[in-house]
Amino acid sequence: MKVLLTGATGFVGSHVLDSLRQRGVAVRILVRATSDNRFIRSHLRDIEAQKGSIGNPASLRQALAGVTHVIHCAGATKALSAKGFFQVNQDGTRNLVEAINQAGGIQRLVHISSLAAAGPAALNQPRRETDPPAPVSTYGRSKLAGEQEVSGKCQTDFVILRPPAVYGVRDFEFLRLFKVIKGHIRPVFGGGGQQLSFVYVKDLAEAAVHALKYPALARQNCFVAAREIVTARQFGLEIASHLSARTVPLPLPTALLWLLCAGQEILSRITRRPSVLSLQKYAELTAPAWTCDPTKLEESSGFVCRTTIFEGVPRALDWYRQSGWL
Ligand SMILES: NC(=O)c1ccc[n+]([C@@H]2O[C@H](COP(=O)([O-])OP(=O)(O)OC[C@H]3O[C@@H](n4cnc5c(N)ncnc54)[C@H](OP(=O)(O)O)[C@@H]3O)[C@@H](O)[C@H]2O)c1
Repeated sequence: MKVLLTGATGFVGSHVLDSLRQRGVAVRILVRATSDNRFIRSHLRDIEAQKGSIGNPASLRQALAGVTHVIHCAGATKALSAKGFFQVNQDGTRNLVEAINQAGGIQRLVHISSLAAAGPAALNQPRRETDPPAPVSTYGRSKLAGEQEVSGKCQTDFVILRPPAVYGVRDFEFLRLFKVIKGHIRPVFGGGGQQLSFVYVKDLAEAAVHALKYPALARQNCFVAAREIVTARQFGLEIASHLSARTVPLPLPTALLWLLCAGQEILSRITRRPSVLSLQKYAELTAPAWTCDPTKLEESSGFVCRTTIFEGVPRALDWYRQSGWL
């Protein structure tokens, strides 16, 4: 087996690379000239790195030579415009699928999508794979479009994995929440009752590697999540308890949340630096639930995401502290 991994320099992809290398799998990664290699430096001597981009079909054809499996982790989780999301999450995925179809000999593509492609859930009704997708953000629509490139055009076996919020070691996004809570402020939006599914990043990485082989997963899409469902308030309190921080809840009514999203969007446009917080994110933040049911993955492959927030949050926190991020 030889795996082409895209997005290896990112948060999720760097853990997928760790998992592949722990199993001794031969890996080639696709990296851009601008990629930041800090999370994968220790692997660079043992893997092949192909310069290129999912926006460049010629580089994808080169990257696929001699490869048997692909894990597609590259994606845009933030962008300055809708075009920015679709260029990476749809067009980039289409380029990869077309290159795989041309290459022949590839046995399986594991595509990392998102719960955002499926859309939010109703309270106490976690999303299942059979629910019709109804994304509410530009990001979610672009991830759904990426899934459709895979399911509609890929001539090779594929598995589409849909994680909910991913957290853990090396994550910049939840780091902000840890920092604010360390400063004794605990933001509470929508009354704090939004229900959430989570997946610890190492569980997601292991699921992606597991999905390379498991026959029952072929041509399926599956949610990858821990079974526990927690509210946004519980998640904040869990972080506070491990930080031993006394916190003051800061209620963010929807109008204030909208202003925060709008303000951040204006700042991103001025600085040309996209942020996860933006107006397109507002609809996600105000949804009643972002929950999903992992039964299909568990029953069809035996893979279970075992890390609860009670284990995952302190692991992330230890790493943030050791790395000087917090
Ligand atoms: N983080 C989450 O909570 C979460 C939740 C659900 C799903 N996901 C999905 O998981 C995947 C990884 O997300 P992440 O959180 O790890 O994001 P990330 O840290 O921003 O990493 C994104 C990766 O994609 C690469 N990339 C972006 N555009 C590319 C292009 N045109 N060509 C080649 N590589 C490109 C980046 O490379 P550079 O280093 O060159 O920028 C980076 O390696 C994404 O598909 C995302 O939609 C994430």
